[in-house]
Amino acid sequence: MPNSNIPVITIDGPTASGKGTVAHKVADRLGFHLLDSGALYRLTALSALRRGTALNDEHALAKVAEHLTIRFHGGHVYLGTEEVSHAIRAEEVGNTASRIAALPAVRQALFALQLGFRETPGLVADGRDMGTVIFPTAQLKVFLTASVEARAQRRYKQLIDKGFSANIDDLLEDLQSRDARDTQRAVAPLMPAEDAHLLDTSQMTADEAVEQVLAWYAGK
Ligand code: CDP
Repeated sequence: MPNSNIPVITIDGPTASGKGTVAHKVADRLGFHLLDSGALYRLTALSALRRGTALNDEHALAKVAEHLTIRFHGGHVYLGTEEVSHAIRAEEVGNTASRIAALPAVRQALFALQLGFRETPGLVADGRDMGTVIFPTAQLKVFLTASVEARAQRRYKQLIDKGFSANIDDLLEDLQSRDARDTQRAVAPLMPAEDAHLLDTSQMTADEAVEQVLAWYAGK
């Protein structure tokens, strides 16, 4: 069957909006595959940091992205043979990911890799440009938002739960500069697709957001 007939639900939104959790749960409920596209930028960032690649060398960074050997398995992420699920969640890696994600050659290098995740019975794709650039033919597009304060609280809890140290004021500042970079970059800026459903989750639990997404999907 042509690839564009395989159902895709895209869930885009700013940092710490809860996309990851919601995407995961929606994929579980539907038995769909999951693409955490942010993890690809984080893996590129981790690999570049470890190799000492200059963070302003677009060509070299695109090569790093192109040659990533990655595997997602049972909720774990591998870079080569190393399990890096924890390492890619560090704030330094997230900040580097956000910087290199602004480089067109890096985005291009990850393009085909992302399309390959569209497999039967379906895919839930989480990121910034899933509905606008990578899967414009998605059957359902969702754009999740939440206030910057709600997002800082969520990120704080996430980091503490994972055993990282965190400071709420630094996180607020980080989120704001990451939002600015993600929305103002020239390529694939963070914005809702024209046909996206908007969902503000500031006052919602993840499970309530999941139910809403499933209801929209069932109505398609
Ligand atoms: O968890 P958080 O939302 O901070 O980040 P993430 O979803 O893991 O993505 C890390 C970084 O990659 C983001 O800050 C974005 O700048 C970038 N990204 C992107 O540009 N396009 C995507 N489709 C996914 C992530």
